[in-house]
Amino acid sequence: MEDIEHTLRVGIRSGHPDARMSMMPAFGRDNMLTDAQISDVTEQVVAMSSARARLHPDLRAAARGALVYQEQCAVCHGATGTGDRALGAPSLTDDVWLYGGSREEIRRQIELGRGGVMPSWERRFDDGTLRALAYYVHQMGGGEADAPVAPPTLPSAAAPAPVVDQDQDERAAGGAPH
Ligand code: HEC
Repeated sequence: MEDIEHTLRVGIRSGHPDARMSMMPAFGRDNMLTDAQISDVTEQVVAMSSARARLHPDLRAAARGALVYQEQCAVCHGATGTGDRALGAPSLTDDVWLYGGSREEIRRQIELGRGGVMPSWERRFDDGTLRALAYYVHQMGGGEADAPVAPPTLPSAAAPAPVVDQDQDERAAGGAPH
C-alpha cells in the first residue's frame, strides 16, 4: 500500500528527484545481444511466465536463453523472474505484459527496451486523494498484504527500521545505456 502511494507521488522517470529511474536496456538496438541470443532469451522469458501454456516455448532454445537470462536479466528481474519492485522491473512469471503478450511483442521489448514514464502526481492531488487512489489501486490488484510488522517486544528484539537504499536506482541506471 505505501509502495503504491509512493509511486503515485513521485512517478516513474518523471523528473521528480525521488522518481524510479531504472530503464530496460535495448539489448538488440545497442548490440548487447545477438539476434539468436534474443530469440533464445525470449523463449526463456515465455518459459518462465504463465504465457507458456498458450505460447508453447521452444525448450531447447529456452535452455540456452536461461544462461543469457542469468547473465543479463536476473540483476533486475530476479533469478526466477519475479521482478524487483524497487527497480521497477516487472515480474516475468505472470501473463501480464506492459507492451503486449504475443511472442513478437515480448521479443520487441527485449530488443528495443522501453522506459515507460509515469508522471508524478504529488503536486496535482492532495494527500487524502493520493491515499484514496493508492487504496483503490491496491484493491484492484487483489490487495496484497503489507509486509508484516514485528510486534513491539523487548527493545533488543525490536525489528530494525527498514533501510531504504537511495542509491539503488542510480546504480541500476548506471549499468544501462543513456
Ligand atoms: C537495468 C534493469 C533491467 C535489465 C538488466 C533488464 N530489464 Fe527487462 N525491464 C526493466 C524495466 C525497468 C522494465 C519495465 C519497462 C517500463 O516500465 O516501461 C522491463 C521490462 C521488461 C519486459 C516487459 C515485461 C512486461 O511485463 O511487460 C520484458 C519481457 C523484459 N523486461 C525482459 C528482459 C530480459 C529478457 C532481459 C535480459 C536480456 C532484461 N529484461 C533485462 C529492467 C531491466
